[in-house]
Amino acid sequence: MTYNEIKECAAFLQLKGITKPSIGIVLGTGLGSLVSKVDVELSIPYGDIPGFPESTVESHKGHLIYGQLNQVKVLMMQGRFHYYEGYNMQQITFPIRVMKELGIKKLLLSNAAGGMNPKFKKGDLVLLTDHINMQPDNPLKGMNDPAFGNRFVDMSCPYNIELNNTIIAAANELYIQLHQGIYVSVVGPNLETRAEYRYLRSMGADMVGMSTVPEVIVANQVGIPCAAISVITDECDPDNLHPVNIEDIIAVAEKADVKLCELFTKTISNLI
Ligand code: HPA
Repeated sequence: MTYNEIKECAAFLQLKGITKPSIGIVLGTGLGSLVSKVDVELSIPYGDIPGFPESTVESHKGHLIYGQLNQVKVLMMQGRFHYYEGYNMQQITFPIRVMKELGIKKLLLSNAAGGMNPKFKKGDLVLLTDHINMQPDNPLKGMNDPAFGNRFVDMSCPYNIELNNTIIAAANELYIQLHQGIYVSVVGPNLETRAEYRYLRSMGADMVGMSTVPEVIVANQVGIPCAAISVITDECDPDNLHPVNIEDIIAVAEKADVKLCELFTKTISNLI
């Protein structure tokens, strides 16, 4: 991936009419209903966007959505690219770099995650305060074009405190319970064994998922303040672990999506 490819992709999207996006949003698995709150001006399938990775089954339904949400121009990814689909880290984070090029000022992300902190129940929302990267790869590997930003990106505060405070305030206003926690990213696509949950919990993580961290690393490199929320889709107590499947996970995510949708909408209106 080169800076030119990013510029070309951004130029294509600008020509389509994506001229002034203010907030970027990445919606995780089962968490797409925010789109219904947007006055959609453009909805482009990922497959039609030059430079976006070739679709796999999961990403096939993905759309880039541009429109207005509460007076704010948002650029939304309905569906993201995952490492377990076979993409490399540069491909997964390409859209974040394009968003930067298009001028977004803030980034909100969501994901479905397994809850390892025993206080977290299915359907709860958790604000990420920090993360642990357990994926064996990095989006900053290999390239060193100064146009992308620093090579050795500072990660002392990967999630923007002001943005997090705005989300906490919005949750309070809406009487939505919002936990805070540390997210650990794994490759997947299998879920974890009991021994793995025990291990991940012992290293200090509260929830586990298969995404978000690569995007957050790149957002930090390019200087976009970001925040992320996990929807707890399964309770990962190693001493009382029940089998889960992806259908259950998606069903829980879809149910909790109503809350997430309200929370993001309120947060965005409080940002103006
Ligand atoms: N582990 C990893 N990823 C997940 C999980 C899990 O338990 N639940 C949802 N995404």
